[in-house]
Amino acid sequence: MRQKVLFVCLGNICRSPAAEAVFLHCLKAKGFELTVEVDSAGTGGWHVGNPADSRMRSAAKKRGIDISSHARQIQLEDLQNFDLILTMDNDNYSAVNSLALELGERATAKIKPILSYSNTTKMIEVPDPYYGGELGFEKVLDLLQDACEGLLAELILKN
Ligand code: 4NP
Repeated sequence: MRQKVLFVCLGNICRSPAAEAVFLHCLKAKGFELTVEVDSAGTGGWHVGNPADSRMRSAAKKRGIDISSHARQIQLEDLQNFDLILTMDNDNYSAVNSLALELGERATAKIKPILSYSNTTKMIEVPDPYYGGELGFEKVLDLLQDACEGLLAELILKN
């Protein structure tokens, strides 16, 4: 069975679509793209249907990574349909845990902060780059590339 991983941020236009694309890029590089199903969602619904933020897409493009997803809002069923839900910051983590409580025992997904998979940073949250400058998007990608390598090692290479 394919493992199903969902990345979650607030708007699903910056951090979580980038995480989705970065992890897919890591999987493809190692030939594991059919082993894991990857998706992303936002806890908020303001940007539903929109492509990722153009600043995030161009920063990723410079690293050879295409972000092609469109925003969607996380649904209660996601807590039962995904094996692993990876949040970008403490607010997302709390919001997803509240949804899990609401769904009750059908909520089987494991919920973890994405940076818990990083072997190098001491940061706990991926900072929201939306209201900042270009450097914020580069920092998000640095953190995600590092954490996704750790995630890949944990999910695939150790099994
Ligand atoms: P994201 O960034 O959660 O990484 O997608 C944001 C995108 C939009 C907004 C906030 C954060 N917003 O307030 O519209």
